[in-house]
Amino acid sequence: MHALINEGAARGDMLPRSVNSLYTHLRDMTVAAEGDGLVGCCGLSICWEDLAEVRSLVVRAEQRGLGVGRKLVESCLSEAVTLGIYRVFTLTYVVDFFRDMGFTVVNKDILPQKIWADCLNCHKFPDCDETAMLIEL
Ligand SMILES: CC(C)(COP(=O)(O)OP(=O)(O)OC[C@H]1O[C@@H](n2cnc3c(N)ncnc32)[C@H](O)[C@@H]1OP(=O)(O)O)[C@@H](O)C(=O)NCCC(=O)NCCS
Repeated sequence: MHALINEGAARGDMLPRSVNSLYTHLRDMTVAAEGDGLVGCCGLSICWEDLAEVRSLVVRAEQRGLGVGRKLVESCLSEAVTLGIYRVFTLTYVVDFFRDMGFTVVNKDILPQKIWADCLNCHKFPDCDETAMLIEL
């Protein structure tokens, strides 16, 4: 999972994750697998009582366009509902993908919890070039 995410980060598709961050948040991750191989992954991180984030979404390059990414995000959204969390956001470069899934573009200012928790430690802060998107479930 670390290699898959960091290959995506090296291409500029997403932010990198450290091994430590992945272990710390391992229970956040949903994975798609084929046999023993990892096809994709996506995380759902709880940020606040009513707010969670979809993050670290990636599908192996040769298996894209088959609906895996959509299923991973749907699984995370379904988990949010099960947890009673009805607002889910993402910070992304694939705006059209998330728009297709029902997310809308929002101002990052409405996500202060994310900024306190993660953005302050991001090497891009304060010049974030990702788009904030939110879905109300
Ligand atoms: C974005 C990504 C996860 C999509 O995974 P995928 O398995 O190829 O997506 P799906 O096959 O489930 O596609 C679902 C829909 O989104 C569309 N879509 C897929 N990738 C897209 C993209 N990069 N931009 C816009 N739309 C996209 C598909 O056309 C499809 O539409 P349809 O249902 O009308 O056919 C994958 O392209 C990827 O891993 N990209 C690199 C990492 C990345 O950008 N992660 C997002 C970080 S926030």
